[in-house]
Amino acid sequence: MSVLEIRDLHVTVGEGDDAKEILRGVDLTVRSGETHAIMGPNGSGKSTLAYSIAGHPKYTITGGTVTLDGEDVLAMSVDERARAGLFLAMQYPVEVPGVSVSNFLRTAATAVKGEAPKLRTWVKDVKSEMDLLEMDPAFAERNVNEGFSGGEKKRHEILQMRLLKPRIAVLDETDSGLDVDALRVVSEGVNRTREEGEVGVLLITHYTRILRYITPDFVHVFVNGRVVDEGGKELADKLENEGYAAYVKDSKETAKA
Ligand SMILES: Nc1ncnc2c1ncn2[C@@H]1O[C@H](COP(=O)(O)OP(=O)(O)O)[C@@H](O)[C@H]1O
Ligand SMILES: [Mg+2]
Repeated sequence: MSVLEIRDLHVTVGEGDDAKEILRGVDLTVRSGETHAIMGPNGSGKSTLAYSIAGHPKYTITGGTVTLDGEDVLAMSVDERARAGLFLAMQYPVEVPGVSVSNFLRTAATAVKGEAPKLRTWVKDVKSEMDLLEMDPAFAERNVNEGFSGGEKKRHEILQMRLLKPRIAVLDETDSGLDVDALRVVSEGVNRTREEGEVGVLLITHYTRILRYITPDFVHVFVNGRVVDEGGKELADKLENEGYAAYVKDSKETAKA
C-alpha cells in the first residue's frame, strides 16, 4: 500500500524577473489501487505538475510538499524517485540517440530494482509485454524515441511502466496523438497494471476520450495552477458536455478579487 501526497504545492518556472508561478497550491492524494484523472484546459499547469513530481530542473518548488509513503520526494534525485516507485510518462518524451529500446529498458529496470533482472525471464517478459501492446519485436532494436510515431512513443512508455512495475504512475497526455487502435492497446496496458492492484495512477488528460477505456475512480478539474473541483467519473461526462469554460471564468474572477 503506497500513498503519494501533494500538499499546497507551489511551483514557478523561469528565473529572476521572468519567474512565473504556474502551480498555485495543489493538493492531491493518490493511493495504490486508485486511478485519478486530472483534467484541465491547455496551459493550466498539468504538465508542470508532472514535471515537478519528476524533479525536472526547470521547475522551482517555492512551497508545499510531495511525499511518497511519508518520504520527502522533493529531496530525492530523479533516480531516487524512480527507485522509490514513481514512474512518470511525459507528454513529450525525449530521444535517446544511440540507445536501443532493449538496452534502455534493461538499464532502467536495473536502476530501479538495484540489480540486473535475470536475462532469461527478462527477455521473456519484454517479449510478452510487447506482444500484448501489439508491438513488432524489431522495435526493441530501435533507438529510444528516434523517429517514433505518436503511437510508438506511448506504447514504449506503457511498456516501460509494465516492466518497471511502479507504485505510483503519472501519465501525462498518454492519449494525445493516438488513433483509436493505439488508444485501446495503450489503455489495456494501463488497465492490466490496475487489475494487478498495487499501483496508483495519475492520468493527466485534456480530453475525456481515454476515460472511455480507463475508468477513473476520481476526477480532479485543474484550472490556473490548482484543483478547482473534484468528483467521481461522472464529472468527466459533465466536462465532456460542458467543457472548462465555467471553471476558467470562475478562476479569473477569484484571481482578480
Ligand atoms: N519550461 C517552461 N518555461 C516557460 N514556461 C513554461 C515552462 N513550462 C510551462 N510553462 C508555462 O506554464 C504554463 C502551464 O504549462 P503546462 O504545465 O505545460 O500546462 P498544461 O500541461 O496544462 O497544458 C503555460 O503558460 C506554459 O507556457
Ligand atoms: Mg501538458
